Amino acid sequence: TAPLRIALAGLGTVGAGVIRLLEANGELIAARAGRPLQVVAVCARDRSKDRGIDLSPYAWEDDMTALAARDDVDAVVELVGGSDGPALALARNALNGGKQLVTANKAMIAHHGMELAGIAEAKGVALKYEAAVAGGIPVIKGIGEGAAANRIERIFGILNGTCNYILSEMEGSGADFADVLKDAQELGYAEADPTFDVEGVDAAHKLAILAALSFGTAVDFGAVDISGITMIRAADIAQADALGHVIRLVGIAEPQEQEGERRLFQRVAPVLVAKDHPLAAVDGPTNAVVAEGNFVGRLLFQGAGAGDGPTASAVVADLIDIARGTVSAPFSLPVSALQKVAPADPGSRISR
Ligand code: NDP
Ligand code: HSE
Repeated sequence: TAPLRIALAGLGTVGAGVIRLLEANGELIAARAGRPLQVVAVCARDRSKDRGIDLSPYAWEDDMTALAARDDVDAVVELVGGSDGPALALARNALNGGKQLVTANKAMIAHHGMELAGIAEAKGVALKYEAAVAGGIPVIKGIGEGAAANRIERIFGILNGTCNYILSEMEGSGADFADVLKDAQELGYAEADPTFDVEGVDAAHKLAILAALSFGTAVDFGAVDISGITMIRAADIAQADALGHVIRLVGIAEPQEQEGERRLFQRVAPVLVAKDHPLAAVDGPTNAVVAEGNFVGRLLFQGAGAGDGPTASAVVADLIDIARGTVSAPFSLPVSALQKVAPADPGSRISR
């Protein structure tokens, strides 16, 4: 059977992870997908960098425009990062050229997801972004497909592995914030600009995507009320502990009635979590997402939220869907069927 021919842009933590995963599990994946997944061409900034992977089987493109335009490619994988700039140009070029697109780039989807979903819908190709939210956890598929029969009433969780790693390390050892952040960067969890992690922006990108998916609204990153963890000190963690709590950076989204109107409340903030709550046990770079559906009840998705292997797992799962032909259009950002919901007053309180 003809392989799914892939162009891979970005060979950093996640891109190199994708190559390693396809090398290790290629046969198993081909059997499950019904055909092989074949990387044809790759692109990064520095061709001479040692990435610990053999790139000789793949064509090298210096230019991402040329990568997206290749005739021998069915699907483009964007693992470059950044909400705008080269990643966005690549995504637009790929979709406009009728290629399927897989991305792990939550910043780009949070800012331009509706535009990209519109192009994908018009061109009849897939826009897939499982890895953009909660790393290896199949939460986009879980909510967009597994819980599709439900009205989602609320969604919340721990959406940033770097912050969770920092908070739980500070908790365990009383370690210094800056030292733990450095460790998270070395372990490949942090964004290229780690202020996105510690200031809550990365979690807000993911929350905005999850909220759109859960409530059938347009992605509205600007409406997320955001606080990060930079002000959290070891003394705060010790005080929370004495009160029977841990501190976690939590994102929450739920529709609320305000002044006779249906509004969407979205907030990312460090919160006190009681030690007997399931989120309190979520340690290290782990993420956890709770979705409450009106028939299924409470679902808890938990797993590795960052790092090369888990994120590659989500990227390749999207490619398998495309290879199987089970995706014809972006199921998860339904541009043509959007609900209208106003942003909520960010001063609202989380009551449950
Ligand atoms: P890295 O910084 O490790 O890798 C980025 C890659 O993009 C590098 O290979 C770099 O090239 C390449 N690149 C950057 N700019 C250009 C350019 N102008 N032209 C060509 N190539 C370029 O990032 P990650 O792998 O960590 O992240 C990639 C994406 O995945 C981001 O959107 C991130 O938010 C997302 N993500 C990351 C996770 C993680 O745990 N790391 C988890 C979930 C999502 P070079 O190597 O030559 O410098
Ligand atoms: N920087 C992100 C995190 C990577 O720490 O969660 C995964 O999206």
